[in-house]
Amino acid sequence: MNPAGRVSFTRAVLLLGVVALGLWLLSVELAVVGGGADPAVRAAVAGRRTHAHAAVRSPDAWRTREWRRAVDRHAAVLRRHLADGMLAASSVAVCLGGAQEAMALRELGVVGAVAVAGERAPPLAVAGDDRRLPFPDSSVDFVFAGRALDFSRRQADLAGEAARIVKPDGHGHLVVLTSGASDAYSLRSLQALLPSLRLLRSRVINGADGSTLRELVFRKHAGISTTSRSSPNGNNSAGSCTSRDHKLEIIGLAEPLIQEEPAKPWITLKRNIKNIRYLPALADIGFKRRYVYVDVGARSYGSSIGSWFRKQYPKQNHTFEVFAVEADPAFHADYARRKGVTLLPYAAWVRNETLTFEINDGPGNKGYKDDARKPNGRGMGRIRPGAGAMKGVSSGEVRRIPAFDLAEWLKRTVSEQDYVVMKMDVEGTEFDLIPRMIETGAICLVDELFLECHYNRWQRCCPGERSPKYRNTYGECLQLFTSLRNSGVLVHQWW
Ligand SMILES: *[C@@H]1O[C@H](CO)[C@@H](O)[C@H](O)[C@H]1NC(C)=O
Ligand SMILES: *[C@@H]1O[C@H](CO)[C@@H](O)[C@H](O)[C@H]1NC(C)=O
Ligand SMILES: *[C@@H]1O[C@H](CO)[C@@H](O)[C@H](O)[C@H]1NC(C)=O
Repeated sequence: MNPAGRVSFTRAVLLLGVVALGLWLLSVELAVVGGGADPAVRAAVAGRRTHAHAAVRSPDAWRTREWRRAVDRHAAVLRRHLADGMLAASSVAVCLGGAQEAMALRELGVVGAVAVAGERAPPLAVAGDDRRLPFPDSSVDFVFAGRALDFSRRQADLAGEAARIVKPDGHGHLVVLTSGASDAYSLRSLQALLPSLRLLRSRVINGADGSTLRELVFRKHAGISTTSRSSPNGNNSAGSCTSRDHKLEIIGLAEPLIQEEPAKPWITLKRNIKNIRYLPALADIGFKRRYVYVDVGARSYGSSIGSWFRKQYPKQNHTFEVFAVEADPAFHADYARRKGVTLLPYAAWVRNETLTFEINDGPGNKGYKDDARKPNGRGMGRIRPGAGAMKGVSSGEVRRIPAFDLAEWLKRTVSEQDYVVMKMDVEGTEFDLIPRMIETGAICLVDELFLECHYNRWQRCCPGERSPKYRNTYGECLQLFTSLRNSGVLVHQWW
């Protein structure tokens, strides 16, 4: 063989190698995209044109004036992202707000754009739902959510899915239009649903009906895992909730704390309820995974869950899961038939252990509260860890009851993606529980806290006499409230 022949033979081998590599890459691509997926999904991920060779006649709907108007409106928003270079003709682009968005993108030259809809509708829409977008992890350059999050009944799932499919390392973007996120609190909630993404920019645009919308552009962090549920309730150290600026802003709007010890606490504290500025009256509480109410020291269902939380707490139309923490077995039967309420038949405490529990009905209790709140004359006793520590003021019945670590339970049960309201009325144990919740970071998971602080208050029954039941002073209570507010917890003085 002459040298020229050898060269061309080598070339042929090389060429074959290249072809084989190409075929292998193609098969890898198809494998990654997933067998059995909609051909339009595959084409979209591969950046190929689908409508041209799909040869589907355009449905009549496309020729209506409304359709045209909607497409033009979306195009006006989307054009900017082409100009910014976030989007190109070859981009893998997925729209979550309907086929008109995908149409707008295709008309702008992003030929492979598809929408996700409940039912497959070629060539524009592939089938998927909020819990499952039919695209592999980290495969999409541009996810246009439109207003899909606003209209979804599973916002958190949809947000997680959108974040999952976006390409990482700054290559992919997610664009959200929303009528929410207009206050720092709600924006922060949305960001918590997208822990792997970073907000790049935000601007206000005009919605279809003349309303204003916010357009938020997110980019996936470099090297962040694609799992949609991070664990934002990890180890937070004292007083340092990961992000609390949005909470401090809200606290600035809350009712002031009562600085002077009230001479008639049974009047002043009760009246203070009217001054309370509830969080949902100050901010949009949308963009949360779950809505949770925890009543610590719940007593009977009617004492605060039924009479106050269910009836009066402003819920912005969200449905709350309720947890009732109540150690006294006298109240347990009441919870057996309550829907949506989970009873935790324990005393709230700083660790799991069995405690001796005192049912107070001694004279120290007289005039302390209206009797409606302690049916059968039973009050919630004070927790005294360990036996033998029972030399108290009142001597009632003594029971051994299981107590649990409230902070640990909270961290296991809810996350920063949830909206959590807590009421705590634990007869003095707040001086143990609150420091423990701060120390473990569990307090960062509570959005709004209604705290009854027990101190040696002036008594209604006996002018000039302080309640002998509690050792702490009003000043110590005030300190507890102040430190909570300083560390970003919207706490109210409950009675
Ligand atoms: C939290 O801290 C404890 C003790 O330092 C450790 O055992 C645990 O693994 C940590 N948990 C997380 C989620 O980091
Ligand atoms: C709650 O729903 C009602 C009826 O659907 C509606 O009129 C009201 O505006 C909603 N409230 C909030 C705060 O969204
Ligand atoms: C503490 O008690 C609660 C309630 O029974 C339980 O769910 C949890 O697993 C316990 N925690 C530990 C660390 O044992």
